[in-house]
Amino acid sequence: MSFLNLCEKRRSVREYADKKVTKADLLNILEAGRLAPSAVNYQPWKFYVVEKDEAISALHKAYPREWFLKVRQCIVICADTAAAWTRKSDSKNHAEIDASIAIDHMTLEAADSGIGTCWICNFDPQLCREALALTENQIPVAILSLGYPKDETVWSTPKKRKSLDEVVEWI
Ligand SMILES: Cc1cc2nc3c(=O)[nH]c(=O)nc-3n(C[C@H](O)[C@H](O)[C@H](O)COP(=O)(O)O)c2cc1C
Repeated sequence: MSFLNLCEKRRSVREYADKKVTKADLLNILEAGRLAPSAVNYQPWKFYVVEKDEAISALHKAYPREWFLKVRQCIVICADTAAAWTRKSDSKNHAEIDASIAIDHMTLEAADSGIGTCWICNFDPQLCREALALTENQIPVAILSLGYPKDETVWSTPKKRKSLDEVVEWI
């Protein structure tokens, strides 16, 4: 599959089959995140694979949507502001940018292996912090739900995007 076709294929999947993602597939997804670029190559991230019953139940509390309560596996991607590059001119910390690139790598690797993912940011950060016992410097950037799609036709549903004309300026 070409890279552009993979970008076209990847979409948010919120309904999963009752089958766990294999360890080999999980490791490939994590490896794709590990290979992501980051400012000054500081790699200020931590990937929490959440799949044990107690941990996943604690995470459900942070995002108690009906579809998410059925999710059995996710990766929570955390950015460490103390480990990230900060731009001197305006003190902008790049931890969340770096972590977001890693997340995107993971979603694409997952899609390439037929695994559905969904970025989740609309969670309660405090409950997420408690579920993972995060340190003060760690920001939970996204919960990435994971699973084989319940319905394979999800991969061919139309994608809604602005046209290139709307988003590109040639100057
Ligand atoms: C930063 C970010 C945050 C998101 N947060 C949520 C969320 O909390 N819940 C959810 O169901 N989807 C969430 N999404 C998924 C978006 O709704 C989805 O990516 C968008 O509608 C485009 O659809 P697609 O992913 O199928 O291409 C999020 C996506 C991104 C990139």
